[in-house]
Parts: sequence; C-alpha cells; structure tokens
Amino acid sequence: MISENRKSKTHIVVLFGGESAEHDVSCVTAAHVLRALDSKKYDIITVGITRTGDWVLVDTNLDNLPDQLTTSGKTTSITQVLQVTNQISNTVVIPLLHGPMGEDGTVQGALELAHVAYVGAGVLGSAIAMDKSIAKQILAANNIAQPKFVTVRDSEDRNVAVDRAITKLGLPVFVKPANMGSSIGVQKAKSRDEIIAALVQAFEYDEWALIEEAITGREIEVAILGNESARASVPGEIIPSHEFYDYEDKYLIDGAKLLIPAPLTAKQTTEVQNLALNIFGVLRSDGMARIDFFYEENGRGFLCNEINTIPGFTPISMYPKLWQASGVSYSELLDQLIDLAIARHAKRRRNTNR
Ligand SMILES: Nc1ncnc2c1ncn2[C@@H]1O[C@H](COP(=O)(O)OP(=O)(O)O)[C@@H](O)[C@H]1O
Ligand SMILES: [Mg+2]
Repeated sequence: MISENRKSKTHIVVLFGGESAEHDVSCVTAAHVLRALDSKKYDIITVGITRTGDWVLVDTNLDNLPDQLTTSGKTTSITQVLQVTNQISNTVVIPLLHGPMGEDGTVQGALELAHVAYVGAGVLGSAIAMDKSIAKQILAANNIAQPKFVTVRDSEDRNVAVDRAITKLGLPVFVKPANMGSSIGVQKAKSRDEIIAALVQAFEYDEWALIEEAITGREIEVAILGNESARASVPGEIIPSHEFYDYEDKYLIDGAKLLIPAPLTAKQTTEVQNLALNIFGVLRSDGMARIDFFYEENGRGFLCNEINTIPGFTPISMYPKLWQASGVSYSELLDQLIDLAIARHAKRRRNTNR
C-alpha cells in the first residue's frame, strides 16, 4: 500500500460553483481549498460548474475562479475528467457545492455512477439533509428534540396552510424553503399576511416550504468528522448581529460573532456533542457535517435546527474553525476528509460486491 502511494500521487478533483443560489459562496471556498491542498501529495484538477450547469475545466488561477466560470471555458464532464486522471481508483472528488444540484445528492449520484470516491455524504445522506422537511420527519421518528414545524407544498391553498401553521405554532414563525441554505429565502413572519408573503418568496426556491415556531435561544453548532466512527468537535456559538443569522450577516457584513468554544458547561458540551453524533448517524451522513442547534435556556434545552453536509469551508467558516479549535488544522482536515472518502468508497465497493 505504502509503495503504491509512493508511485503515484492521489488525484484530487476540486468541484465548485454550481447551479444554486449559493454559487458565489462555493467559488470563495474553492479558492481557499486549492491554496491549502498539499501539491506534494496531490495532483489537483479544478472543475467549475457554471450557473447553467456546464462543467468547465478551470486553470487553477486562484484569484479569478468566478470569472473563469462565466467566460465559458473548455467544457467537460465527469467522464472526461476521469480520463484526464486516467486512474479512477486513485482519484477523490471534493464537491464544494452548496445547495440544490450539488449538496443534495444529484452530483453525488453522478459520482457514484462514475465509480469515483468523493468527500462527504452519499446520495441518500445528502438528499435527506438538503430537504429540511424530510430531515425533520426522520429526527421526529428518532425522538430528537427540534422546533415544531409544518410543511407546506406550493399547490396547497395558502389560507388553509397558514391556519394550520398558526394553530400549531402560534406567532411569530420562521418561513423557509425546504431545500436551500445560506439563509436564502428564510424569513421571520409576525402576522398572517407576513406568512403569506414569506411563503411566496420561499416558493421561488422550492416547491416545499417549512413554517416553524420561532425559537428564542442561543445558536450552537457542532462539527462532525468521520464515517461509521465519527468524532464531534468542540461546540461553537453564533451571535448574529441582525435579528437572525441572515445571508448578509453570514457573508456580506461579517457582523456575526463566532464564539469558539461555545461558553457551555462540560455537561452541556457532552450533551450537544452526543446529540450531534446521533443526528449524523440517523440522517445517514458520512465524512463531514455541521449540525446546528438552538439552545433554549430554562426550556427544552438543545433543539436541532438543521444539518449541513457541505458546510461553509473558508478558513473563517465555523466548520474548519471548530476543527482547528479541536486540534485539526485546515489542511489536515482536507487530508482526513480525503482519506475518509477513500475508506468509504472501498467499503461500499466491498458491500455491493462489485
Ligand atoms: N425556528 C427558528 N427560530 C428562530 N430562529 C430561526 C429559526 N429558523 C431559522 N432561524 C434563524 O435563521 C437562520 C437561518 O435558518 P436555517 O434554517 O439555518 O437556514 P439555512 O439552511 O439557510 O442556514 C438561523 O441560523 C437562525 O438565525
Ligand atoms: Mg443554517
């Protein structure tokens, strides 16, 4: 095994951009990941996915990733990329794609069909995590505490849906598309009319929306790393600078404060870490995930908000920072994720007896 490794470097395909509203975030992440990957260990190929879904081979020009994607480069496909590496068995794809058509199992499915190893959750785990409504139903079936919610489909009569929501949840509520991230389409609604307006906006992103009771609580996040025997990081806390942790607060004004580790007691820390590990398992994740909670003091305690299978991954993002605080540097984290991808791929191949 060791001599084999010496013979050839692992080929890494960094896949970034994508069709979702989170395209720009992905481009920023990719630039950081490319900078951190050890070129002595890896042969790196960079593939961008344009906003319209074309795959383009990108020259690894670090400062210019988003621009290259708009100036239609040399179009490619996963099959062509694997022909370039000419060694599927020694290739790992790092999908740095947030949101639908990237984090939701679609790209993971294409990579499965190509028989190539990739970082992060598989098809099922990705799809479950992307659909907040389905993830919540699985959490409920496993008795994991979370905010009360109702699911609404865009074909449902809005007045009936709002009645259902107010009866179960009261006011105010949070309205969000089931499939999205980065707080895009998330709104707090304090009245019937505001819920209806928020639903109109949520349905611009997805056919399904969630309405949730508004939680008053702290926002605590835990990073998970591993496959079947995963580890939990120290928890972190987010102090939003806006009324809630919205897109602007996340990416534009850098206003939110991150407290790492979160000021929690040892008992609370262990509790939320164990909860996060349990959630990672029941939602069938692999490799990495960031699991987000509300902490309702003097109330129900930790309530699961959501799981992110491709969490923000710039060096100032919560996921890498939580690992850094837990003793794993940014580039070590990438190395471990690559090793985990190889291990899972090998195990799956054994299980399916191919
Ligand atoms: N039920 C809720 N109660 C209170 N705040 C919420 C609730 N849902 C969402 N928020 C606020 O909105 C932010 C974004 O919502 P979230 O569901 O995490 O969507 P995203 O996947 O886009 O991050 C959260 O970090 C939190 O600040
Ligand atoms: Mg969130």
